[in-house]
Amino acid sequence: MDATSTRGAGDAGIQVIPVWDPLVRMIHWSLVAVIVLNGFVTDPENRLHEYVGYAALGLVVLRLVWGLIGPRHARFTAFPPNPVAALRHIRDTVSGRNLLHLSHNPLGALMVYNIWATVLVLCATGIMMGTIRFFGLDWVKEVHEVAFSWLMASVALHLIGVFAETWMSGVPLVRAMIDGRKRVPAGRETE
Ligand code: HEM
Ligand code: HEM
Repeated sequence: MDATSTRGAGDAGIQVIPVWDPLVRMIHWSLVAVIVLNGFVTDPENRLHEYVGYAALGLVVLRLVWGLIGPRHARFTAFPPNPVAALRHIRDTVSGRNLLHLSHNPLGALMVYNIWATVLVLCATGIMMGTIRFFGLDWVKEVHEVAFSWLMASVALHLIGVFAETWMSGVPLVRAMIDGRKRVPAGRETE
């Protein structure tokens, strides 16, 4: 994708780089909405909880397909799960050497895979609860509940990560998830 440069009054220049395509952004904010709905609004005894859950499943599956065929920064190859690179990212951040990643940084990437996997566990156990084979089994319900608590803890860490990285890198990440563009201080090394 093309990068465009702008020069604001008195600043050294900002590179505006298109990163998140509309589908990635639509999936992200829709996933936030359906998780909030099913976690805090819908009654689990009600059919609506099931339908909203299927929407969550559809969004994650669509995103996983997009990770294979979507544009460059949305692809798994742009943010491979790599715990060693994630540890290196923490070490670099602590030592003040913050290399800028146009897709997810290696630590953020692990969190993203964790969130998708957790939503899939929620949907699988939710569907299982409605089947004859698994109906009424305590452990299925317990996994559903634990997965939800895990998801909430993950989202809290996700938000801490987003704001910490925004502060360290000087790139407004939330704005980029809204309009798709990362505003990178000119001259910053990107990967
Ligand atoms: C239920 C709540 C949330 C969930 C489950 C969630 C999940 C995710 C996932 C899965 C991604 C990866 C997107 C992709 O590659 O398709 C992501 C990225 C992102 N999310 Fe969230 N999110 C949540 C709430 C939020 C909120 C409230 C904000 C803003 C305040 C936010 C800001 C971001 C940003 C900025 C990124 C991109 C990070 C980067 O540049 O690497 N998220 N989120
Ligand atoms: C994003 C996806 C989902 C989220 C965030 C979610 C969240 C929750 C939460 C917070 C509860 C209450 C747990 C408690 O009793 O403390 C619950 C219960 C339940 N969920 Fe889900 N859920 C999701 C998907 C699904 C799906 C796809 C289904 C079915 C197709 C489903 C079926 C159920 C059922 C049957 C219960 C009631 C369990 C019981 O108390 O007997 N859920 N869910």
